Amino acid sequence: MTPDRLEPPFLRSVLLMRERIEKPNVYPFSLPAVQALDGLELSAVTYFIGENGSGKSTLLEAIAVAFGFNAEGGTVNFSFSTRRSESDLHRYLRLARTRRPRAGFFLRAESFFNVASEIERLGVTGYGDRSLHEQSHGESFMALVNHRFEPNGLYILDEPEAALSPSRQLSLLIAIHALVEQGCQFLIATHAPIVLAYPGATIYQLDESGIAPVSYDDTEHVRLTRDFLQDRERFLRRLLVAKVDLEK
Ligand SMILES: Nc1ncnc2c1ncn2[C@@H]1O[C@H](COP(=O)(O)OP(=O)(O)O)[C@@H](O)[C@H]1O
Ligand SMILES: [Mg+2]
Repeated sequence: MTPDRLEPPFLRSVLLMRERIEKPNVYPFSLPAVQALDGLELSAVTYFIGENGSGKSTLLEAIAVAFGFNAEGGTVNFSFSTRRSESDLHRYLRLARTRRPRAGFFLRAESFFNVASEIERLGVTGYGDRSLHEQSHGESFMALVNHRFEPNGLYILDEPEAALSPSRQLSLLIAIHALVEQGCQFLIATHAPIVLAYPGATIYQLDESGIAPVSYDDTEHVRLTRDFLQDRERFLRRLLVAKVDLEK
């Protein structure tokens, strides 16, 4: 592995243009993670973690739109418009770019459960032998990754684990590795310790104090899962006793 292996090929950093904001107390500007966007440095694989509601989807969506992903439709760059209202955060972001990717994909969290329908709706074909509708969510998502994610692409994935078994999450890591070696860049929001495990990647934690880099072993996802699996019985005993106490 060369030291600059994880240099970001397309998108280097994201900056919030604060001077343009008129209503700082209103969503999305009220989110601590958004307020803290001071030249967020990206690498070839950048993860975003944080509690539900911390702003991961808001941020990924805004970066995707600011980068030029279509709101709907298209053959190369497309996203699914399953989310009712988009924030206008993208208009307040300054992206430091290098060159243009040759391919790309933005998958919203909600879309992983209907990847097959959406791809069919968009009239995109060529995902292997079987119709995507004959495949499970996880199978169709991996078919998408393996057949449609191309070299020199920018891929923005919001909670891809929703559709994936642990062994398919490992397959996703293998695919990410092959694609990074072929000049791709990934931005991924995830809660899954396996998905989060790409070596050398940057991990940003979003919380009430803002957004900051964190090491893999220091993430709550990894610590909690490790503690749980190491001594499940003890962990559960403590957890369930505490719950009973609360209910007294
Ligand atoms: N269109 C919207 N209008 C107002 N608030 C929103 C909107 N979309 C999301 N939010 C709120 O912003 C916060 C961050 O949401 P989101 O980016 O979806 O978080 P995450 O993806 O980390 O779970 C949540 O509290 C959510 O309720
Ligand atoms: Mg989300």
